[in-house]
Amino acid sequence: MNIAILSVSLNVFSTQRIMEEAQKLGHHVELIDHTKCSVKLGEGDPKIYLGEEEVTNDFDAIIPRIGAKVTKHGAAIVKQFEMNNVFSTARSLGITRARNKVRTLQIMARKNIPIPETVFSINPDNIEEQIQLLGGPPVIIKLQEGTHGLGVILAESKKSAKSIIDTFYKMDTSILLQRYIEEAQGEDIRIIVVGNKVVAAMKRKSEIGEFRSNVHRGGDTEAVKPTSKEEFIALNACKYLGLGVAGVDVMRSKHGPVLIEVNASPGLKGIEGASGVNVAKHIIQFVERNAYTRRK
Ligand SMILES: Nc1ncnc2c1ncn2[C@@H]1O[C@H](COP(=O)(O)OP(=O)(O)O)[C@@H](O)[C@H]1O
Ligand SMILES: [Mg+2]
Repeated sequence: MNIAILSVSLNVFSTQRIMEEAQKLGHHVELIDHTKCSVKLGEGDPKIYLGEEEVTNDFDAIIPRIGAKVTKHGAAIVKQFEMNNVFSTARSLGITRARNKVRTLQIMARKNIPIPETVFSINPDNIEEQIQLLGGPPVIIKLQEGTHGLGVILAESKKSAKSIIDTFYKMDTSILLQRYIEEAQGEDIRIIVVGNKVVAAMKRKSEIGEFRSNVHRGGDTEAVKPTSKEEFIALNACKYLGLGVAGVDVMRSKHGPVLIEVNASPGLKGIEGASGVNVAKHIIQFVERNAYTRRK
């Protein structure tokens, strides 16, 4: 098969791993930096260019690895490939939905997937009531489009919560407020879904003095077997968002597991290390199953 990985650089571990496994399975793989892609519309068929060169239309599949900074453009490039009938491991719509935590949680709430109690608003006039909707402090204040744990704040008192929220509202920064799941003690579960199957999972534990369990924030990882309820949440989250490959974050709250967020381009280093699973190979095999069917 002809596979394109949409990624900014070959120096990214996950990109390298996917490329390596694709080659091992005998495929031709190319790296396409979506940030260097242009699309020409109107008069004839739409064309995708990489720099000055036209991107040939003979890819069987693309594997988007769209970073947080260029999601909009990345999703538009993925959309163009989709419209050219190329199989993608993540739908453009799914990438856009997963990028915004409020959008994700709205969809999950509608589908009855358990999530933490969450409030979103932009109204600076009744912040106290908004905090009260969550039962009062401590509360989590989160950028709607943050990553790597940056942009997740724990406000322990009403005073600090009010001043932080007020600042964000006045700066026109999109945030959400969430109940602080204290009982999880800084732990969460990262579940990797590939093509309607849970292929790997790990538990992440935050550093001492930290509540965020992200690997980028110094979190420790270990293999874990998710419960059937956690698997159900992860599988359905991917289904409802439209993602063939994703990393789903779940926290163990006192009311049972709740979905925190979905990552459309999950990092492979932590999960392959902790679980011992060859996730990159699973991704290529998923591509094989689907791209061939599509071509027939
Ligand atoms: N409601 C919450 N209660 C307690 N901890 C939370 C809550 N939401 C997030 N966290 C912690 O912060 C980390 C980062 O939050 P997350 O929403 O996944 O943002 P990011 O996209 O930056 O990873 C989570 O992995 C978890 O450890
Ligand atoms: Mg996260």
